[in-house]
Amino acid sequence: MSHFAAIARVPGDPILGLLDAYRADPNPAKVDLGVGVYKDASGLTPILRAVKLAEQRLVDGETTKTYIGGHGAPEFGERLLQLVLGEHNALLGEQLAGATQTPGGTGALRLAGEFIARNLPGRSIWLSDPTWPIHETLFAACGLRVEHYPYVGADNRLNVDAMLDALQRVPAGDVVLLHACCHNPTGFDLSADDWQRVLAVVKARELLPLVDFAYQGFGDGLEQDAFAVRLFASELPELLVTSSCSKNFGLYRERTGALIVRADSANKLVDVRSQLALLARGLWSTPPSHGAAVVAEILGDAELKALWTAEVDAMRQRVANLRAGLVEALRPHGLSEHFVHVAQQRGMFSYTGLTAEQVTRLREEFSVYLVNSGRASVAGMAEDRLEYLAAAIARVCQD
Ligand code: LMR
Repeated sequence: MSHFAAIARVPGDPILGLLDAYRADPNPAKVDLGVGVYKDASGLTPILRAVKLAEQRLVDGETTKTYIGGHGAPEFGERLLQLVLGEHNALLGEQLAGATQTPGGTGALRLAGEFIARNLPGRSIWLSDPTWPIHETLFAACGLRVEHYPYVGADNRLNVDAMLDALQRVPAGDVVLLHACCHNPTGFDLSADDWQRVLAVVKARELLPLVDFAYQGFGDGLEQDAFAVRLFASELPELLVTSSCSKNFGLYRERTGALIVRADSANKLVDVRSQLALLARGLWSTPPSHGAAVVAEILGDAELKALWTAEVDAMRQRVANLRAGLVEALRPHGLSEHFVHVAQQRGMFSYTGLTAEQVTRLREEFSVYLVNSGRASVAGMAEDRLEYLAAAIARVCQD
């Protein structure tokens, strides 16, 4: 008898699978715009200088490798809360918000999904259409009913009215997932006014927001990008936020993130966190230490924090320049107006509007790798490859 005979093969991950295909491609002209990682002009995903310095200190100063607790390292939690909610946020002093360290932002989403499924039975989770494809599978794997509200339509434009209209019909108590900034996959973000309107609907419908905050610093700035999270945390008694240190600290493979809970009393926060620790124990027991120790070291040291802030600012500015550069490179092909949205979107990604067929041609004929949805990781572009990229896009658009 074969135990595995009935096991069927499933397709590779829509995003990580591209990484394997790109690495196996022998074409020296290949361009990787698949997975959302920042690359410098030479195509390298650098270790930030602030991270290197913090790591050196840790190597010298670390005295033990024993477990950190179920909620992770307390100094990481405290400093991350300040970064996300603001240094002087009264919620912190009043013990109304807490962070549970997780393996990356994906771990935080999984923990949130498990918490909702087990502790808030009967609630559906509402995702933007489109959203990060892993949101869809991850929450379904938690056993949650997954529903959608419109966000960007077939015309590749943000439709806030359609979004609000749909949210107004969401059953009271349901969970709505919102992207704090740098919407993945589209790059279309809500304005401050839009957020106020979403907040009004969330209040009126008594929804529980789960805010995915994976790109702090890549939109308009570390403080500016926290606008929606801080607004919701101050206006709502209860809130879930997932925070990731993968992109802004460049700690991708160290798996560093947190699930942040805002509760309406210090006592209730302890109750909720006790459930999170229990769930985390069954998922990963205790979180990995290294990345969180690096983040805590950087955020706890004024000099390292200033260096890190400057590095995040430089990455953000360079991605913005690449956006503008691609639109310029498309000008000689008569396509700059058609792709003007690339320069207007925020964060690492652009929903280009390219069709799945065009994406396939880009991959097969030009070794340019994008997600099938037409999402391009602008953060993976290089200044000296923009002309090649623009020519390839022009070919698949005009043929
Ligand atoms: C992405 O969307 O490319 C990133 O969030 C990386 C990932 O884990 O998919």
